[in-house]
Amino acid sequence: MTASKDRVLIFDTTLRDGEQCPGATMTLEEKLDVAALLDAMGVDIIEAGFPIASNGDFEAVSLIAQQVKNATVAGLARAISADIARAGEAVRHAKKPRIHTFVSTSPIHLQHQMRKTEEEVLEIITATVTQARNLIEDIEWSAMDATRTPIDYLCRCVEAAIKSGATTINLPDTVGYATPDEYRAMFRAVRERVPNADKAIFSAHCHNDLGLAVANSLAALEGGARQIECTLNGIGERAGNAALEEVVMAIKTRGDVLPYETGIEATMLTRASKLASAATSFPVQYNKAIVGRNAFAHESGIHQDGMLKNAQTYEIMTPESVGVSKTSLVMGKHSGRAAFRNKLEELGYSLSDNQFQDAFERFKDLADRKKHVYDEDIEALVDQNIATAHD
Ligand code: KIV
Ligand code: ZN
Repeated sequence: MTASKDRVLIFDTTLRDGEQCPGATMTLEEKLDVAALLDAMGVDIIEAGFPIASNGDFEAVSLIAQQVKNATVAGLARAISADIARAGEAVRHAKKPRIHTFVSTSPIHLQHQMRKTEEEVLEIITATVTQARNLIEDIEWSAMDATRTPIDYLCRCVEAAIKSGATTINLPDTVGYATPDEYRAMFRAVRERVPNADKAIFSAHCHNDLGLAVANSLAALEGGARQIECTLNGIGERAGNAALEEVVMAIKTRGDVLPYETGIEATMLTRASKLASAATSFPVQYNKAIVGRNAFAHESGIHQDGMLKNAQTYEIMTPESVGVSKTSLVMGKHSGRAAFRNKLEELGYSLSDNQFQDAFERFKDLADRKKHVYDEDIEALVDQNIATAHD
C-alpha cells in the first residue's frame, strides 16, 4: 500500500507576475485562452491580473472570473483601499473568488520604498486584510520581500494577517535571494512560532534571480507550505518565477523523496507551454527542462544506443507523460551506427552490410558539414548510394 500524499495547491500567476515581465503583454483573447487551458489542466488558483493597474487588466480579470469553471480566480491588490475594492469588484462573479493583497515587510523596503515604520505597516496589514475579508472570504496575504525580513517581525505580520482574516499566507522570495535551506527554515520557524498559523495555508512564491526558484519552492513544502506560486515556462519579473511544469514534474517524478501530489494533468504541460510562448511571444529555450524542444532529444551515439535498448537509460520521465508524442533521436555527427540503422528502418530501408557501411560513412561526412541532418538528407544520400551501386 502506498502512503497517502499531501496535496499541494498550484497557484498560477502567468497572467499577473508572468505578464509583468518586459515584453510579455497579452491581449484579452490570449489571456482568456491561457486561463481556459490552465483551468482545464487542473490549476487550483489562477491569478488573473492586477485589476487596479488598468481598465484592460480589470476587464481581463472580470471576464476570466466569469468564464473559469473550476479554479479559484484571484485578483492582486496593493495594501491600498482602492486597490482592494477594485480587485473585489473584478473577481466577485467568479465561482471561487480570491483577493490577493500584499505589503512589503523587509527593512530595506520599509525604509526606502514605503517610508513607514514597522508599527505603521502592522496597522496597514490589519486594516487592509480586514477590508478584503469583508468583501470576500478567500483572502491571500503576502509579505513582500519576506526572505529579507527579520523573522520576529515577519511572525508579527503573519499573526496580524491571520487574525484579520487571511486564509492563505504567502512568503515570497521577491528578489530570488534565498537558498533552499533558508527558505525551508523560514516556513518552519513562522509556522512554529505564530500561534494561529494552523488557520492558514502557507504558500511559496519564488523568483529565479539565482536559478533557485524551483528548488526553493520544493524546499518550502518541507517547511510546511502547501501552495506553490509559479508560471508557465517560468516567465516573470527579471529572471522569472518558478516554472509550473518543473514544479509539477519534480513532484510527479520524485515522489520517493517529495511525498506530495498536485491536481495537474501533466500531459497538457507541453500544450500549455506552447500557448504561453505564443501568447507572450517569448520563445522557450531549447534546453528548458520539461518543455524545451531538446528535453526529450538525444544526439550522442552512446545515449542513442542506450535509448534504443531501454528508454530509462537516459530518460527519467516519458515524453508522453508531458504531452510530447515521442523521444527524438536527432541524427548528427555524434550519432552512432545503432541510431543510424534504426533511422534507416524507420525510413523503410533495408540495406546489405556493405551498403549500410557506405551509407554510414557518407552520413558522417555530411553531419560534419551540416548542423541539422534531416530525414530527407538521409534519404537522398542512401538513394544516391543505391543508384551509384546500380550504375
Ligand atoms: O514577488 C512578489 O513578492 C510578488 C508579490 C506581489 C506576491 O509578486
Ligand atoms: Zn513575484
